[in-house]
Amino acid sequence: MLLLELDGIKKIYRQGAREVHALRGVDLKVEKGEFTTIFGPSGSGKTTLLNMVGCLDTPTEGKLIFEGRELDLLKGKDLAAIRRKNIGFIFQSYNLIPVLTAYENVEFALRLAEEGKKDSELSERVMEILTAVGLEGLENRKPDQLSGGQNQRVAIARALVKKPGIVLADEPTANLDSKTGEEVLEVMLSMNEKLDTTFIFSTHDPAIMEYAKRRIEIKDGLISGDIRL
Ligand SMILES: Nc1ncnc2c1ncn2[C@@H]1O[C@H](COP(=O)(O)OP(=O)(O)OP(=O)(O)O)[C@@H](O)[C@H]1O
Ligand SMILES: [Mg+2]
Repeated sequence: MLLLELDGIKKIYRQGAREVHALRGVDLKVEKGEFTTIFGPSGSGKTTLLNMVGCLDTPTEGKLIFEGRELDLLKGKDLAAIRRKNIGFIFQSYNLIPVLTAYENVEFALRLAEEGKKDSELSERVMEILTAVGLEGLENRKPDQLSGGQNQRVAIARALVKKPGIVLADEPTANLDSKTGEEVLEVMLSMNEKLDTTFIFSTHDPAIMEYAKRRIEIKDGLISGDIRL
């Protein structure tokens, strides 16, 4: 099933008189259940591309179609709703809320996506996903009481708890040592296989790329390679 389609996506950043052509016409189709990496040199447009797919920023030109809906035609509020309910994010620097425990960080995301759910229903979902990513017993710790790898697991749980159609991860292992980075990828892969959640992640690291079932190479704002394994 086709989940996502990018059609001639361009992104120009303007800084005063200077223009940066970060994406120069990207066409891409993503099927449900993919586990795909985007790789390429620094400055090639990986983050920009993930930000477009995640509706964190809007393209200068081109069409983005998510589950059959053209996102250009949707306005701010609808776009925010899609982002909140259908898209999970994992960032390089985790972006957890420091004063909340692991449990509360995940619960907060679920509350935003599913208003009006009872506490007992929420708590069951939160504990289920925390257990699935290997954090049972650590749910009451705050980010500064957890290791980098454990914090990234909290971030994975937070991204997955609302059962999004797609999870986007921008260099999710960049702050981790190579062994911990691979463990985080194992968790992502097992979630992809168990829940059939689509993942797109960017990386510089060849060992992390190995986990992907599809590899998209980006150079100077254009897709220069696309291999399914
Ligand atoms: N907000 C911005 N304003 C102006 N230029 C930007 C902005 N964000 C990114 N760029 C430029 O757009 C280009 C693509 O940047 P992007 O961050 O997407 O690259 P990347 O592939 O993610 O790089 P890295 O591997 O270093 O994270 C670069 O030339 C960058 O300098
Ligand atoms: Mg980047």
